Amino acid sequence: MTNTTKPLAAPAHVSAIAPYQAGKPIEELAREFGLDPAGIVKLASNENPLGMPQSARAAMLAAAESLARYPDPNGFDLKAALAKRYDVPMNWITLGNGSNDILEIAALALLEPGASAVYAQHSFAVYRLATQARGARHIVVPAQDYGHDLDAMFEAIADDTRLLFIANPNNPTGTFVPGDKVAAFLERVHAAHGDRVTVVLDEAYNEYLDPEHRFDSTALVRRYPNLIVSRTFSKAYGLAGLRVGFAVAQPALTDLLNRVRQPFNVNTLAQAAAVAALGDAAYLEQAYASNKAGKAQLCAAFDQLKLRYVPSYGNFVLVHVGDAPRINLALLKRGVIVRPVAGDGLPEWLRVSIGLPQENARFIDALTAILSE
Ligand SMILES: Cc1ncc(COP(=O)(O)O)c(C=O)c1O
Repeated sequence: MTNTTKPLAAPAHVSAIAPYQAGKPIEELAREFGLDPAGIVKLASNENPLGMPQSARAAMLAAAESLARYPDPNGFDLKAALAKRYDVPMNWITLGNGSNDILEIAALALLEPGASAVYAQHSFAVYRLATQARGARHIVVPAQDYGHDLDAMFEAIADDTRLLFIANPNNPTGTFVPGDKVAAFLERVHAAHGDRVTVVLDEAYNEYLDPEHRFDSTALVRRYPNLIVSRTFSKAYGLAGLRVGFAVAQPALTDLLNRVRQPFNVNTLAQAAAVAALGDAAYLEQAYASNKAGKAQLCAAFDQLKLRYVPSYGNFVLVHVGDAPRINLALLKRGVIVRPVAGDGLPEWLRVSIGLPQENARFIDALTAILSE
């Protein structure tokens, strides 16, 4: 019998994708090094160390009663709560299976072979993945001081550019572009290119900003029909495992996004938990305060150890350790998981998510011991 097996046929741009490197799960490290999972500290995925809000847990358990049915495909309750919170009509909101889904949906709606997307060096890895999955061209703009160089990003817009991503604050570097600069950039892009270039303003870490840095990005959505503001419940709202995020954009753009999203992209438990979390101001305040204190704790330790770090506006800090693979392995052996960021073009750095005080202390003690070996 002749062997009729043929190689898998896939578009070259799909075969070329380097998959997303997620933070190592606690159970995986426990298996690999024979460690007790209870003693492992994970500071690798910018999750909320407080655990999910109790209000969201209660709402989720109540919603579990109806899991034999499909979720509400239009997410009425959650959209209504978001519309009220952000003072926009409900048809300006798109829900996503995490904000990652929003980024993918934007790429699906707007990119194709022959089009391009602009984003910054050392920015969120999913911009590359979403662009590549559509067979579109990448225009990666060199970072300035580890952050977005908006002037260079404006200049980089090409005739075939349809999408431009800004992460604000940025992951993995933690940098932030102030509101007046974002507004001036959007004005410039819109004046030069009209609605041809859609800007995604990815604000996954927005709730961690100090009050003096916060600005009203939905006011910008009202002004610019080519703007998508993307937010998540995974970070400050503590719901990463449930996967829920959302976009705010004017109706014409929202309509396009809705055409390509999965009909039931946000599950029942996630919708119910997100409504509760959105109303839980006390939890959000606690998450902000705990993060601010943890950031100070980590930065003080880095100062003490004379390690360079990028001042962070998010729930993580990027620190320069030199031989990052060696330090990372030594941390893993001590049961501490952080995030190597060589794949983001930062081979000498580690990204450390901000944990509870005792988790931060475990990391600091381990790092101090490793550096003095
Ligand atoms: C900048 C940025 N945007 C979006 C996301 C996606 O998060 P999620 O899909 O959990 O909302 C992340 C996650 O780390 C992120 O760092």
